Amino acid sequence: MKLLVINGPNLNLLGIREPGIYGEQSYETLKSRVKAHAKARGVEVELYQSNHEGDLVDCIQQAYGHTDGIVINPGAYTHTSIALLDAVKAVSIPTVEVHISDVSKREAFRQVSYIRAACVKTISGHGISGYLEAMDFLIEHNGGAPCR
Ligand code: DQA
Repeated sequence: MKLLVINGPNLNLLGIREPGIYGEQSYETLKSRVKAHAKARGVEVELYQSNHEGDLVDCIQQAYGHTDGIVINPGAYTHTSIALLDAVKAVSIPTVEVHISDVSKREAFRQVSYIRAACVKTISGHGISGYLEAMDFLIEHNGGAPCR
């Protein structure tokens, strides 16, 4: 099984950006934890981060036929991007939406998620562990019907 973990804008600045909200662990730590978890669960994983919406769309499109599940934290594009929603719908790969912070308890504009409509699950407010939970969900539901 192969998973793809995608991070959107500003997530490369984890550890630096607003540590009171996003924690003190860096993007490098996130990558190490995701890779270690994949190894422990016996799955392949690829990580991608970009600050550019079109690059994120390209990454999702290129996953078609090569990836069994996507974990995505679209960052601020969560709240604005119909292009990312359409990309996930287009490839039909089971996708879990992850947010480090609990977006449901933050500003009203963060409670809008366009991509959610194409995702099998949303995990919000569990910090970096949320990515690992998303991976577990995809591993356990591999081949299963989408469920929330
Ligand atoms: C975020 C929440 C978004 O609202 C924000 O724009 C981010 C990170 C999170 O992981 O909590 O960049 O997706």
